[in-house]
Amino acid sequence: MKLKVLHILALTAFFAVPSIQAQRTIPEVEALLKKMTIEEKIGQLNLVTPGGGIATGSVVSSNVEEKIKAGQVGGLFGISGPEKIKTAQDFAVKKTRLGIPLLFGSDIIHGYKTTFPIPLGLASSWDMELMKRTAQIAALEATADGINWNFSPMVDISRDPRWGRISEGAGEDPYLGSQIAKAMVTGYQGDDLMAKNTMLATVKHFALYGAAEAGRDYNSVDMSRLKMFNEYLPPYKAAIDTGVGSVMSSFNDIDGIPASGNKWLLTDLLRDDWEFNGFVVSDYTSVNEMIAHGLGDLQAVSALSLKAGLDMDMVGEGFLTTLKKSLEEGKVTEEEITTACRRILEAKFNLGLFDDPYKYIDKKRPAKDILKDENRALAREAAKKSFVLLKNGPKNLPLQKNATIALIGDLANSKDNMLGTWAPTGDPQLSVSILQGFKNVAPNAIISHAKGANITDDPALAKKINVFGERVTIDKRSAEVMLAEAVALAKEADVVVAVVGEATEFTGESSSRADISIPQSQKKLIRALAATGKPLVLVLMSGRPLVLEEELALPASILQVWFPGVEAGNAIADVVFGDYNPSGKLTATWPRNVGQIPIYHSIKNTGRPQPTAEFEKFKSNYLDAPNTPLLPFGYGLSYTEFEYSNLKVTTAQINQNEPLTVTVSVKNTGDFDGEEVVQLYLKDVVRSITQPVKQLKGFKKVMLKKGETKQVTLTLTPEDLKFYNSNLEFVAEPGDFEIYVGTNSEATLTAKFSLN
Ligand code: BGC
Repeated sequence: MKLKVLHILALTAFFAVPSIQAQRTIPEVEALLKKMTIEEKIGQLNLVTPGGGIATGSVVSSNVEEKIKAGQVGGLFGISGPEKIKTAQDFAVKKTRLGIPLLFGSDIIHGYKTTFPIPLGLASSWDMELMKRTAQIAALEATADGINWNFSPMVDISRDPRWGRISEGAGEDPYLGSQIAKAMVTGYQGDDLMAKNTMLATVKHFALYGAAEAGRDYNSVDMSRLKMFNEYLPPYKAAIDTGVGSVMSSFNDIDGIPASGNKWLLTDLLRDDWEFNGFVVSDYTSVNEMIAHGLGDLQAVSALSLKAGLDMDMVGEGFLTTLKKSLEEGKVTEEEITTACRRILEAKFNLGLFDDPYKYIDKKRPAKDILKDENRALAREAAKKSFVLLKNGPKNLPLQKNATIALIGDLANSKDNMLGTWAPTGDPQLSVSILQGFKNVAPNAIISHAKGANITDDPALAKKINVFGERVTIDKRSAEVMLAEAVALAKEADVVVAVVGEATEFTGESSSRADISIPQSQKKLIRALAATGKPLVLVLMSGRPLVLEEELALPASILQVWFPGVEAGNAIADVVFGDYNPSGKLTATWPRNVGQIPIYHSIKNTGRPQPTAEFEKFKSNYLDAPNTPLLPFGYGLSYTEFEYSNLKVTTAQINQNEPLTVTVSVKNTGDFDGEEVVQLYLKDVVRSITQPVKQLKGFKKVMLKKGETKQVTLTLTPEDLKFYNSNLEFVAEPGDFEIYVGTNSEATLTAKFSLN
């Protein structure tokens, strides 16, 4: 449902609403606009942060209080708590001529104080209802602390695990990414923005930010329209179709014009084609950064952005300091300023801030709503559902609850590294370490712990990682001494559990890596532990797919846990000791080596596909590596096994605009109850443009008791058969289709149908 429609429904009690078509503007906003001076209008376009929290640029705003009182601020981010927010709101409401309330923004990316797994982890649950509930709880907690506007969901498709922000999104796939965008927007905004426990969401980073060249953050993007429309834009569009209230423009350029000043993107596509009627905010100083992009001075780039369709300027104050001059010089029009201002006022109106600017300010709410037991219970559930079992070597998992366990690794006894990147509102000290979680879940186990190795031995890298607090410490002892201690414990134990991988800030903003393997210090530790011959379990933490060829070849079990959030240790213990059977599936392909990147499942066939796994001259392959990934998209094991059979389509022939029903039998043939994500991939045999070898077009997560068989039904909608052709028309072309159904993107059960 569109935002304006929501607003109309919510306000019908107050106004006579003639019709949705006629409701292009909100009468009260129009009346207010008539009273506003040009300075007051420009003031609404200014978004500031007083600093003190997390600042992701080198600049923070100055004289915030004075600016609010002078009517030079439309919104504020980086502050929280009813008291602070009330003080700031008072400045706006009581000290300015028109008393226009402020928006209060924040980055609540994976939970507010109850931190959930990082988004790439949450996505691995393939559980849309769960993701929606995490967003609802995030909104409940944030609004309890006075915040009404969230800079989430981040829906950038990424096929490059070098990019540190792959951790913040849903991975490589536009179909899955679109479902997740929908779930998150619905979770944050609910169906009533006027309510006190819902908030305005922001879809970001519009657009294509995840396609930064070479995986280097903030790097250029250059992409064909076909690739944009078919592969990268769908999740943003899904958020807009769901009624997201705001859009954040990205740092990168698109077709040579930075997103924040790109009229094709912000107006032609977003407004004219997609009919978005909320407001667009820049990313942190992204307007100013157009100077470095080489597009002119601050006045020029600010005018360019406004004219392109940007409404609010985050932190950089180019709008505040130059738009009036540009108006006087005829470089922008008053209408353009009014339009941007209108959109921001409408958002405030839609939130109900004009009725009650203090609606989110209730001193009792933080204690009542934040970090409640049920919120933490959801964090535990979300975390265990986000884990992906990559290998269960000689079935080392699950562990006996009375085993003697050597729990090794710096990350095994860390609170600082459990929340993951972009959790500025969370408190690492509230998180459950893995050692503690093991003790909670298996009180009869005999657990010894040693660090074994530093997360990295490189002090220069450690310094870069420790920007938001100490995540990596380098032990005073030598590597040999630490290793010997761990090996000695391993030899005494029934089983060794090594917690290895990345520290929190190895991923996230401005945290790209050129080498995405486990750091050398820990690789040595893993080798030494494996050499003891004891059963080995690797609990792997990372915010990205890793290059893991060496470790995957070991006779070990490997559980990928991402960064699990505030309930980390408990959730990991739940899975390791078998209270929960892992069900997560990868949402980004894991490469064998960095040279294969970008690597993803929906590749094109090319004119010279490699016919077998072997190298062949003059075919599309490498001399020194296979084409295949280490772990495919959709991959993830369980403690049990599932058998697929009997794939059927209800009809072999369908007409345009008809859905198709697909059924498959799935049997749990192993020894545990478990959940399976049944995945459906589609191939259009002949198209007017080159096409992916297969694309995800449906999935269903089902629970199967040990021995149980279920018939799973999936529906292909008419939209699922469509794609953007060379004229950028969204069409389905008649002809033959193949479907593949199975446990991951290498699914082999196949059926055929054709479209008339
Ligand atoms: C990030 C955004 C974030 C903003 C505000 C930027 O650096 O790219 O994702 O919302 O800062 O904190």
